[in-house]
Amino acid sequence: MPKYIVRHNAAERVMHWTLVVSFFILVLTGLGLYAHAFFGYLNFFGGAEQGMLFHRWASILFIISSVFLFLSNMKETLTFDADDAAWLKAGGGYLSREKKEIPQGKFNAGQKLFAVFAILATVVMAVSGFVIWFADSFGRALVQFSLMIHALFFIFFVMAAIVHIYLASIGNPGTSAGMLWGQVTSGWAKKHSSKWYKAMGGK
Ligand code: HEM
Repeated sequence: MPKYIVRHNAAERVMHWTLVVSFFILVLTGLGLYAHAFFGYLNFFGGAEQGMLFHRWASILFIISSVFLFLSNMKETLTFDADDAAWLKAGGGYLSREKKEIPQGKFNAGQKLFAVFAILATVVMAVSGFVIWFADSFGRALVQFSLMIHALFFIFFVMAAIVHIYLASIGNPGTSAGMLWGQVTSGWAKKHSSKWYKAMGGK
């Protein structure tokens, strides 16, 4: 078994980091546009008008990269077996001191749930954002409902992203290497994704 195993190809990595950059632009400009307390954030983007433009352009990049990432992992994400159920039942092992590795495929059950949440939240943000963007073409009630949903899912998305960022970096050392350089060590693969490790030729 080679020391490193390819985990994410170049297109997936470019799309993931496009997603991350556009997400942070959306969060900062979104907060600035939403509440007076965060208005200062718009200065990073050249003021309110420019901030609004950044928000719109970033939303397009975000939607494209989110859909790409989901489609590229779709088969794995939508496969759910008894090991995934066992992983969820054990809370991924994060809730106890007992060390018990449950065999997982390329992504563990928690990552699969995050991926499903991310694509659903992207669709909700995109549809509600579209209504807000072209507010003049829609009725007042629908625009107000969209504003509420957009703000609510913003909170859910940020909370989910915080958990994801922690687990994909300091929470599980070695994971980010796959998204940075494309490869993980075979030791990492054996520990975190043992079924995928075997499918890649590991013993
Ligand atoms: C600095 C911030 C971030 C880091 C370090 C990071 C890191 C990673 C890593 C290492 C993976 C691959 C996991 C693996 O190979 O097992 C991944 C996958 C993914 N990331 Fe991120 N990420 C960040 C921010 C985000 C944000 C903000 C979003 C969405 C809003 C996001 C969405 C995804 C999705 C959808 C996947 C695909 C599979 C999954 O884990 O569900 N990431 N990320």
